[in-house]
Amino acid sequence: MKIVSTSNSEGLSSKISSILDVPLARISRRRFADGELYVRLEEPLDEAILVGSTYPDSGIIDILLTADASLNAGVKKPILLIPYFGYARQDAMFQPYEAVSARVLSNLFKEKFEKIFVINMHSPEGMAFLGKKGEEIRAEPVIGKKVKEDGNDLVISPDDGFKEEGENISKVAGLDSIYLNKKRVSDTKVEITIPEGISVRDKVVALTDDMISTGGTILESSKVLKQNGAKAINVYCVHGLFVSGTSKYAGFVDSISTTDTVEGPFSKMTVSEIAASSLRKYI
Ligand code: R5P
Repeated sequence: MKIVSTSNSEGLSSKISSILDVPLARISRRRFADGELYVRLEEPLDEAILVGSTYPDSGIIDILLTADASLNAGVKKPILLIPYFGYARQDAMFQPYEAVSARVLSNLFKEKFEKIFVINMHSPEGMAFLGKKGEEIRAEPVIGKKVKEDGNDLVISPDDGFKEEGENISKVAGLDSIYLNKKRVSDTKVEITIPEGISVRDKVVALTDDMISTGGTILESSKVLKQNGAKAINVYCVHGLFVSGTSKYAGFVDSISTTDTVEGPFSKMTVSEIAASSLRKYI
């Protein structure tokens, strides 16, 4: 058994490899002159767990080629761990004739893999596309532990989409949780209001979400919470994409902590232990 990493998940793969005491496979990758990816396993393999996120887009082709190389190297029943499943937010046709990207990617992976683990898929609808092969690994216990360590007073989710997860985080942290009202105006703009009767005055708030993409949700929520007297705002999310960089958060929030499903400057929490414990039964 070997852990086979795509290019975007090397840090997490190496942590999982140490925890499980399963070596990393040796792989060659290079780009052809036109930018196309070349992948070759440098050794024969019989069993493998492939680790790779579908973000950015190049991660998708990396997973598919690495899977094919693994099959050609002798792997019979490859297992896939997707730390961050990008394209999962389009999990239905919200308007007629739209592509349902979560289904498209799920179908591609179901063809190649025996079992597919995903860390915090965006929605149960997205997860359903993976059928019996899919299994979700939830990062709320990891976030709850950090929220507790950081001395927060209250857990707040920006909308009801993360309400249940926020409650689960708050249980681990031993705190109360509430959620805000969010209205999405465009891809980059949201409107946030605090529900009536809720006070955040003088509270150290743990603002939790599944992902930070443009940051619109987190920044707008922080602005409203500060205007309503919050003492400090610590932000926690599973997947930190930060598509427009990280500098704009300074001054608006007091700290940001993400997991390492997408590796970046705020990856202060690791999902390696929870991933390893789900994968352990396959080694
Ligand atoms: C929405 O349903 C998600 O839970 C996140 O709140 C959202 O995707 C974050 O996106 P952004 O950072 O662009 O506001």
